[in-house]
Amino acid sequence: MKRKFFAPLFILLVLLSDKICADVPDSVYLFIYNSAPRAGLQLAYSADRQRWIEIGRQTAFISSDFGSWGRTGKNMYNPTMCQLPDGSWVCVFSVGEGGNQFAVAYAYDLGRWRPQEYPFMEGVGSCLAPVVSYNSNDGKYKVVFRTIEGGVYVTYSDDLYHFTSPQSISSEDYPNVYESVWLNGIKTEGQVLRVSYDDVKVALDAAVMKMYWADLNGEVASDNSWRFKDLQPVEADITIDASRTKKISDKLIGIFFEDINYSADGGLYAELVQNRDFEYNHRDNGAWNAQTSWLLEGAGATWEVLTDDPIHKNNAHYVALDVLNADDVALVNEGFDGIAVKKGEKYDFSVFARQLSGKGGKLKVELVADGNVIALTTVKAPSKEWKKLTAILRAETDAKNAVLKIVPMGVGKVALDMVSLFPQNTFKGHKNGLRADLAQVLADLNPKFMRFPGGCLVHGNGLANIYNWKETIGPLESRVAQPNIWGYHQSKGLGFYEYFQFCEDLGMEPLPVLAAGVSCQNSSRGGAGQQGGIPMDKMDEYVQDVLDLVEWANGDAKTTVWGKKRAEQGHPEPFNLKYLGIGNEDLISETFKERYLMLINAVSEKYPDIIICGTAGPWSEGSDYEEGWRLADKYEIDMIDEHYYQSPGWFINHYDYYDSYDRNGSKVYLGEYAAHAGGRPSNIETALCEALHICGMERNGDVVAMASYAPLLAKEGRTQWRPDLIYFNNTDINLTVNYYVQKLCGNFCGDEYMASEFSLNQQTKGVRERVAISTVRSTSTGKVYIKLVNLLDHAVSAKLNLESLWDVFDYPEDIDGKVHLLTGSWDETKATPKDSDIKVGKCLNYELPAYSLSVIEL
Ligand code: AHR
Repeated sequence: MKRKFFAPLFILLVLLSDKICADVPDSVYLFIYNSAPRAGLQLAYSADRQRWIEIGRQTAFISSDFGSWGRTGKNMYNPTMCQLPDGSWVCVFSVGEGGNQFAVAYAYDLGRWRPQEYPFMEGVGSCLAPVVSYNSNDGKYKVVFRTIEGGVYVTYSDDLYHFTSPQSISSEDYPNVYESVWLNGIKTEGQVLRVSYDDVKVALDAAVMKMYWADLNGEVASDNSWRFKDLQPVEADITIDASRTKKISDKLIGIFFEDINYSADGGLYAELVQNRDFEYNHRDNGAWNAQTSWLLEGAGATWEVLTDDPIHKNNAHYVALDVLNADDVALVNEGFDGIAVKKGEKYDFSVFARQLSGKGGKLKVELVADGNVIALTTVKAPSKEWKKLTAILRAETDAKNAVLKIVPMGVGKVALDMVSLFPQNTFKGHKNGLRADLAQVLADLNPKFMRFPGGCLVHGNGLANIYNWKETIGPLESRVAQPNIWGYHQSKGLGFYEYFQFCEDLGMEPLPVLAAGVSCQNSSRGGAGQQGGIPMDKMDEYVQDVLDLVEWANGDAKTTVWGKKRAEQGHPEPFNLKYLGIGNEDLISETFKERYLMLINAVSEKYPDIIICGTAGPWSEGSDYEEGWRLADKYEIDMIDEHYYQSPGWFINHYDYYDSYDRNGSKVYLGEYAAHAGGRPSNIETALCEALHICGMERNGDVVAMASYAPLLAKEGRTQWRPDLIYFNNTDINLTVNYYVQKLCGNFCGDEYMASEFSLNQQTKGVRERVAISTVRSTSTGKVYIKLVNLLDHAVSAKLNLESLWDVFDYPEDIDGKVHLLTGSWDETKATPKDSDIKVGKCLNYELPAYSLSVIEL
């Protein structure tokens, strides 16, 4: 552990030693290799081609971005490079045996890389050991590769994006550039090039920076007792200057809802029947089929899944029971891990039914818990045509784990579909509405906007899985169910109408996100994991779908096609959509760019008032981030959605992340962020890192317009991603300490930022980074909120000079304020905010407890 604390010193020495050691050759040998498929592109150099020096300890200059996460994708084999006359570089590498693509990466210099491309080589089964070269006479790039079968092919390109069809060439023409060198005592295969030392120096500097940041980003609270063992009592002098204000976003804190971790079906969407439409299948999850979560009880009937003459073509499957003995049969649904009901509450039951043969009879409907019938009703006998039958069930007792039983009361063959059980007590009482308790804890955050429906869910697992908003509106039986990229099923019962309605209920700005015409770069379907692009001849249709969303949300109910559809569903008034997201943390490849810019141009031309939110990849730095921002600047995109899940040390040491952002460029929407500590806990350490970051975002609230923690919801036992803001099961909700940070910051927010200066009496490295202040004022209520964050394991005695508030505002001598305090040991997971009264005068002495967020409300 101690090694870590000496690392900055070591790095300084490396930097110094490089400066001191001026006796370096003009040119050296560069060795290009990767020691393992996931080790990324590694470099070493040598002055004499004998003794090789690794550049950075196991530094990956780039990592393969090809294919899906998990065990199969993100591999790199046999990288080779060539240098262009202007000093820039091209690297190609194989992504594995089973596919007809290789990877191409361009670098401005050895420290700055562009996003990767994966050209398709039609007609070959594999692209192995590709070797790249550049011909300055004709300006063409040439890549020669081998196949598993022993073939050798050549392809050419003018732009590193469009490549010619591969041509078979003689195996003798394969330029075998690979050789073995001894590196750290291991014989390693790679390519050797002669390059200028200046190029290597760039690589050395880039590697040192990577190591420097890795060291800082690795700082964790569990080391603080050692790190700050000699720290003397910390005092802070803070001056708030109410005369130095700036306008900041009044929509900073919002929520991001994605159907991950069973957030929608089985979560916020209040439907209690699982697989109500019999549309589950193996594409949702390998083990599933149309009967999943259903069972047939008793021996009085057989059942099968049919598809002829369904209720709607989009809902092809239904179940048919052939009843021979009505006394001994029940179709049972297990719900989502059971069905939870409350004593005395009413539940709307409905089913589409059709008598296929025989006389049939009424259907008895029961809720059964622990063998007891706790609710009972009947619906009419089905007729020869599909008809929706309804009834109300009233629960006689509480139950956590009931099942729904449908008991046919006559013999014959009966078809059933869209079996639904909905609590009447939904949020705001909407039919087809949301689970009231979960919606309420979201409302309590006081979110100013909601981004939906994803996330990776939007750009989908392969082109066929891209989220289509049009398939999520209208009658439930006409919506198109779809596999969820997170490994389960989307019924689409929670669709765009319901999302917009929820936004309206909570006074949140809707921020729908649609795919940028490409699927997820981590897809396992479609083009062997390559980020697939919708074929160009289908893009006009896709662009129109995107434009139609704006018309659906805002168009006139009488005169526009899509406005009419919204009205038909029950909302004649426009939803007043102002924001539209295009793209989700995509790989900023050429395939992406072509489609992204097409969409952005079309929307801004037709709807100039819509604020378009573009994307800058999945990370806080690197090739996608840089290229995403380059596009934002070039095309003056209104707002850019950044995503980063980072370590506590990253948040601490990037407390000033936004301080240097361009004040006149695109606004920032931090659409996904969370502090990820080892083991992925939701604890005081991670929550305070997020609070610290929010202080930085408020300070830069003229640039950072919106921010949302991610993911929002997770069902216990059904979680694909941790940590999450809110955990729940069918009856209970567990709010995390991170939730309380969002709640405090969402409720105690303003639209004006007041400058503050603060100095600390301790200069120990790491102290300054762990203390933050942000003061905001709501111009509508006149309330002032001072947020103070302390991530030290020591209390901080703060002296706050608030005189300027008295100068600017008409305050009485002392003000009755309130303190909202969230604190606990760094690993505490159950703390909740405590409120207390405070008298506030022009000078306020306030102690920030160790590991705390305080909000002082004036
Ligand atoms: O928030 C979970 C996932 O994280 C999102 O779907 C995706 O955008 C990101 O990778």
